[in-house]
Amino acid sequence: MRTPLVIGNWKMNGTVAEARVLATAVRDGLKRPKGTEVVLCPPFTALAAVSEIVTGSPIGLGAQNCHAEPSGAHTGEIAPPMLVELGCRLVLLGHSERRKEMGESDEQVNRKVVGALAHGLTPVLCVGESGEERRQGLTFTTVEGQLRAGLAGLDAAAITRTVLAYEPVWAIGTGLNATPAQAAEVHGYLRGLLSELASKEIAQTVRIVYGGSVKADNVDALMAEGEIDGALVGGASLNAPGFIAIVRKAARGAASRGE
Ligand code: PGA
Repeated sequence: MRTPLVIGNWKMNGTVAEARVLATAVRDGLKRPKGTEVVLCPPFTALAAVSEIVTGSPIGLGAQNCHAEPSGAHTGEIAPPMLVELGCRLVLLGHSERRKEMGESDEQVNRKVVGALAHGLTPVLCVGESGEERRQGLTFTTVEGQLRAGLAGLDAAAITRTVLAYEPVWAIGTGLNATPAQAAEVHGYLRGLLSELASKEIAQTVRIVYGGSVKADNVDALMAEGEIDGALVGGASLNAPGFIAIVRKAARGAASRGE
């Protein structure tokens, strides 16, 4: 069984002092997150402070992006070993906000995936179609292109070390989540592609989380789908009680499906 994973993506929000308060509340509210992995992704500026708070607790630390190279003349960028040094175990890559606002290409995302893996970070490769692509019936074409390009050149052993996030762009920050059936359909499709790229066995071990307006009141229905292995939570992760409720419900949902 795949351990459910709930990631809080704080995006570009919060001072260091606010990050400390939020991380402490999440840590103290989730002393023993039963059967669920929880990772917080604060802004870069708060990584060191949040690292101090979560070190020694079951809460993991992740970053929202990284550069592909380990060092060099890349003004304003952050390298994978720098994240490892701060205690990060995971990094979000290819988030649709970066694809759109920074023009990140599939090729760049692929180089970042390779760079992250080279330093022991778990890359969370984000894929998802726009509203227009869904209306035109291009959902599977879009996510397939992003997945194949994002994982290009990776062997089966490397694919095992990745996590996928399906985040339909039209559902991010809009309050409009994909229905559990819509999400599960795409997750199943992605898992089929993983079988082809790695093996059926490996595809069964890779976690595919859903993101896009996940909240405490819709996570139960999403987690009831066997294909959904957790959540990438944006807006709702900025509120400690709400995020804790999401984690608890995700854990319960995963446990009941294993019975
Ligand atoms: P949201 O963001 O939960 O605010 O929709 C999710 C994400 O972009 O990771």
